Amino acid sequence: MPLRRGRALSLREGSGLIQSDTAFMASTPTPSAAPSQVSATVSIDLGDRSYDILIGRGLLTDPARFAGLPKSSTALIVTNTTVGPLYTAQLKQALAAHHKTVLDVELPDGEAYKDWPALNQVFTKLLESACDRKTVLYALGGGVVGDMTGFAAACYMRGVPFVQVPTTLLAQVDSSVGGKTAINHPAGKNMIGAFYQPQRVICDLNTLSTLPQRELLAGIAEVIKYGPIADADFLAWLEANLDALLARDLDALTHAIKRSCEIKAWVVGQDEKESGLRAILNFGHTFGHAIEAGLGYGEWLHGEAVGCGMVMAADLSARMGLISVQDFERIKRLVERAGLPTIGPDLGADRYIELMQVDKKAEAGEIRFVLIGPMGQATTQGAPESLVREVLAAHTR
Ligand SMILES: NC(=O)c1ccc[n+]([C@@H]2O[C@H](COP(=O)([O-])OP(=O)(O)OC[C@H]3O[C@@H](n4cnc5c(N)ncnc54)[C@H](O)[C@@H]3O)[C@@H](O)[C@H]2O)c1
Ligand SMILES: [Zn+2]
Repeated sequence: MPLRRGRALSLREGSGLIQSDTAFMASTPTPSAAPSQVSATVSIDLGDRSYDILIGRGLLTDPARFAGLPKSSTALIVTNTTVGPLYTAQLKQALAAHHKTVLDVELPDGEAYKDWPALNQVFTKLLESACDRKTVLYALGGGVVGDMTGFAAACYMRGVPFVQVPTTLLAQVDSSVGGKTAINHPAGKNMIGAFYQPQRVICDLNTLSTLPQRELLAGIAEVIKYGPIADADFLAWLEANLDALLARDLDALTHAIKRSCEIKAWVVGQDEKESGLRAILNFGHTFGHAIEAGLGYGEWLHGEAVGCGMVMAADLSARMGLISVQDFERIKRLVERAGLPTIGPDLGADRYIELMQVDKKAEAGEIRFVLIGPMGQATTQGAPESLVREVLAAHTR
């Protein structure tokens, strides 16, 4: 396997692409809603498809947070059977100020239902309710609901506006931002989809209070990835504040979500359709996808596989001389402290390599890894197979 070097990519603050606003703004309380507080706003700069990510508390129930979106008499909330009973009524109340009719559809919960039949339930609801091409779709849920709602919005009548209301940490720091939408096909995950940007992303921290701890940790894996790939200071901040994050401290969560969204916004603003730079967001994902596919999807959560995959990719970076062994140990320790796995299943090195060769990022069979070096910068490149085998031997059992 040849060694192929990529361009070093790094994030510098003040690039002008990120506009964030950390002022705390209390909204005017209305009789129908509790006061909300926007702690941070991050802007995605994509010309006429630019939009804001609002991060704060009580946003879901505050009509003011939904002002200024495309106007329509009808809206459809797409959610699932777990999140719907918790939050649909609250969101409906806030949206009543903006839409005459607010419908909702509850899809079955789970990655297994990120498929055509579930997507069709959304189209059936829209058509049976005679929804026109101005109808606004609201994705209320985690990444599965967000990806499906975005794809439904891209397709219905060739495109209707949609808003992301992410309710998992993973969705708030990753999947709701950037416009990748998709459903799964039995032959491949996320293989049927479109790039389609939302009109706004509304991250209400209050929704995280009901999130199972295992799902929170899976989200923290995606937060951790932003440090090594783009911001060494953020990695140091995570090392100092991990315990607060695990305890769901709201200030810590706000900072983590804001910084993650800023970095994702910076990357997506430069490479919306993943022709290069955007691939760095897949740090840990080449090994991680092999774990997910090798065990069968659903065995490990995606974030768990990414956590372990980051340890492997960091070790590969160290073995290639791109970071020090101490830097690799820092990443491994952080993943470990977050309660994420650092040892992968023993699928056999041949099987890992085979699975990584069919990964979307492989080019003509050559596995492309996101590697770190120096800390806070990422490259996408090939690696000698002997080193990949050493990494697998060291981190599988
Ligand atoms: N579009 C992108 O750029 C992108 C990026 C990363 C991941 N993804 C996709 O995201 C999906 C994973 O997202 P996820 O981790 O959010 O999984 P998920 O959507 O399956 O949510 C995880 C679980 O938490 C439940 N849940 C959600 N919010 C809750 C809340 N507030 N309280 C209680 N329970 C709640 C859900 O019902 C589900 O059971 C995958 O399909 C993946 O492909 C997309
Ligand atoms: Zn991921």
